[in-house]
Amino acid sequence: MEKYDLIIIGGGPGGYEAALEASKKHGMKVALVENRELGGTCLNRGCIPTKTLLHSAEMLYELKAQGETIGLRDFGSVSCDMAALNQRKNDVVTQLVTGIGSLMKAGKIAVYKGTGTIIDKGLVRVSLSDGGTEDLEAENIMIATGSVPAVPPIPGADSPKVITSDELLDLDHPVDELIIIGGGVIGCEFASVFSALGTRVTIIEALPSIIANLDKELGRSLSMIFKKSRGIDIHTGAMVTSIREEGEKVICCYTEKGNECEIPGDLILMSVGRRANTEGLFSEESSDAVKAMETDRGKIIVNERYETSVPGIYAIGDVIGGIQLAHVATAEGRCAVAFMNGADAPVDVDCVPSCIYTSPEIASVGISADEAKEKGLEVVSKKYPMSANGKTVLSLQERGFIKVIADKETGKVLGAQMMCARATDMISQFAQAIVNGLTLDDMSRVIYPHPTFSEGIGEAVR
Ligand code: FAD
Ligand code: NAI
Repeated sequence: MEKYDLIIIGGGPGGYEAALEASKKHGMKVALVENRELGGTCLNRGCIPTKTLLHSAEMLYELKAQGETIGLRDFGSVSCDMAALNQRKNDVVTQLVTGIGSLMKAGKIAVYKGTGTIIDKGLVRVSLSDGGTEDLEAENIMIATGSVPAVPPIPGADSPKVITSDELLDLDHPVDELIIIGGGVIGCEFASVFSALGTRVTIIEALPSIIANLDKELGRSLSMIFKKSRGIDIHTGAMVTSIREEGEKVICCYTEKGNECEIPGDLILMSVGRRANTEGLFSEESSDAVKAMETDRGKIIVNERYETSVPGIYAIGDVIGGIQLAHVATAEGRCAVAFMNGADAPVDVDCVPSCIYTSPEIASVGISADEAKEKGLEVVSKKYPMSANGKTVLSLQERGFIKVIADKETGKVLGAQMMCARATDMISQFAQAIVNGLTLDDMSRVIYPHPTFSEGIGEAVR
């Protein structure tokens, strides 16, 4: 039986980055077990394919909506070729997945293609994709099996016209009318893509606002831009009660402000969150200790060292719930590897930038003014409207803003919320400030080049 220092089950951004960290930084002998493609959800069904589609869709939208204004002509006939769009997306994914394969080779990581089942502490059985099984032994096991889309038990939700982000990413034909159930991150990003491609989009969200877990002003502003510039129909405080097919159409029935409503569409995207993926991870052959591993509604429970209730078995990323982001999975994996080697955490996992790739982009880190108030913190809150930023004006961006929250006494930066072009790149400056205890004065001592969007940061912190 092959022996390792660490067996990682799941080759997404949590698992494959942890494998590299363990091998390169800590000299561990590592096996990585993956039953689909390296790169996991992020590369194959998440971050990368969605942003590739968004890139093309936004370019189309900008040419059509703004081409004439910026002095370009004859864009009347510009259109989208769905097959070519998909091919481009698949090419990008293939290039990056191949790159991870090369990284695994260079890092001397043994990659097993198959499903990993934990039999006992230190023992994983791999059901190999091309047949047979192989048992692997290691002192440490890391579960990095990620998540899959959640589909609530709404009557009719099993219709083939009700799909998740997995299927929508492979759509090979245009859609006239798309209904999106759930106005969270996935719902809003796909609303951006499809509205830019000319689809009539309706969002049905149960909470009073879209992207409700972020600062209220972000949700309000995005909602306004979606409605006014993109023609997206948004129903908040709306509960879907049932779905039915009628001819070629699918009908979504929901209640809003006490009224029963119906809306027809060609497809329904179900984007109401994701659940931990533990399929195939345990079996009848698993020991009693492994079968008794503590979970909470499917999520694997871990302590502050990312160790599960079974010593020597760690879990990180989407499968433990919390904030389900690629960079969080990576950071947790790197920390877990450090902890199993008696080292300190190499990353501050308490400061997580969160980004939404709508147009304009949205990004947030640390606390908002509302959260500061709830916590009884004395803070100063500054806001800079990007309508006064030269780069924003010359590139015809939507109205946006940068807000920064700092401790009133010390001036230390505690949080920032941004809605503007390149917000997803620029938020790292605020994350740097928070993790390293920088003040507003520290941030304003920097020269911000002109003309850039980042000048807005300089203005906001001054
Ligand atoms: P995953 O990436 O899900 O990888 C887990 C891997 O384990 C999978 O490949 C799976 O096949 C494999 N596996 C599962 N069980 C077994 C088993 N028993 N044996 C062997 N292999 C197994 N996050 C961002 O930060 N930015 C974004 O822009 C972003 N966009 C997204 C867009 C969409 C549409 C979606 C769905 C998600 C997006 N996310 C984004 C979230 C991000 O993809 C996840 O947070 C991230 O992939 C989680 O990483 P992970 O390593 O925990 O799990
Ligand atoms: P989400 O949690 O962001 O949003 C789900 C939304 O659905 C919530 O607003 C919720 O109130 C609503 N909802 C739940 N049940 C409902 C119902 N029955 N009817 C109407 N609305 C309902 O989850 P989402 O959008 O599925 O994304 C999953 C995860 O993927 C996110 O948590 C995020 O971490 C990750 N992701 C990250 C991206 C990024 O970083 N840019 C992009 C896409 C996904």
